[in-house]
Amino acid sequence: MTATQRVTDERNQALFGWYQMRRRDLPWRNTSDPYCLLVSEFMLHQTPVNRVEAYYELFLERFPTVDDLADAPLGDVLAAWSGLGYNSRAQRLREAARIIKDDGWPNDVIGLQELPGVGPYTAAAMASFVFGAQVPAVDTNLRRVLSRWHGEPLDGGLLMAAAKDAVASDAGNWNQAMMDLGATVCLPRRPICDACPVTTWCSGPHGYVAAHTQARFEGSARQLRGAIVRAVVREPQSFETIRRDTGFPTAEVEMALEDLVTEGLIANDEGTYRPGG
Ligand code: ADE
Repeated sequence: MTATQRVTDERNQALFGWYQMRRRDLPWRNTSDPYCLLVSEFMLHQTPVNRVEAYYELFLERFPTVDDLADAPLGDVLAAWSGLGYNSRAQRLREAARIIKDDGWPNDVIGLQELPGVGPYTAAAMASFVFGAQVPAVDTNLRRVLSRWHGEPLDGGLLMAAAKDAVASDAGNWNQAMMDLGATVCLPRRPICDACPVTTWCSGPHGYVAAHTQARFEGSARQLRGAIVRAVVREPQSFETIRRDTGFPTAEVEMALEDLVTEGLIANDEGTYRPGG
């Protein structure tokens, strides 16, 4: 065994010991059903865990199987998603469900990545949780933790190589453990190094200093898009009611409607806006 492998093994042992004690009891951790995990990963992409917890079980009650979701009208899916934000995720999730209903589940990273809305991170997470693939799920969280272990910000090929070197043979649990470490200890701005199980093998927080990236929501196109989808799911709306109820400038409403129609989230039915098909 090389010295690097020994470091990796010792660090992963410490990580797993910590994870056994501190693991967050999240609803999608009590299942290996690929459909439940796909729903959770779509929701968790861009939405914090505590908000997803409020939606995940209700969504699965409403659409218990991949076939139920595949067969559901988009308006029903958007209604169950409404409030989580980034509604195009719901649209893509239903598209993915339709493909899976017809063709079955892809069982590796490449196949998963061909599903709409599934990027490299989600494909790797799913493949490791469900199909036992030995792959790290690389997102900004993992990037931060690995960068701190290494002592400098990692990107691109270096980041992928570091992740492949670091991942344990139980990659599903390793990915979950790393998510918990990043979300509860190795925080972007105020890491709690005193509570960290792997400081022995870490260069310290200076290796990665988080930028302030939270985009303004109030008055944003994202806020307007969410308001339009919520209104249209409640009942069909005219341009005028949308403009009046959202209070956004006409040009911005026009642009948001055009984008939402182009993306298929909503449909323009002779001047009345409804959920897309
Ligand atoms: N963020 C993305 N996927 C996650 C998961 N499975 N658990 C916790 N946070 C996550």
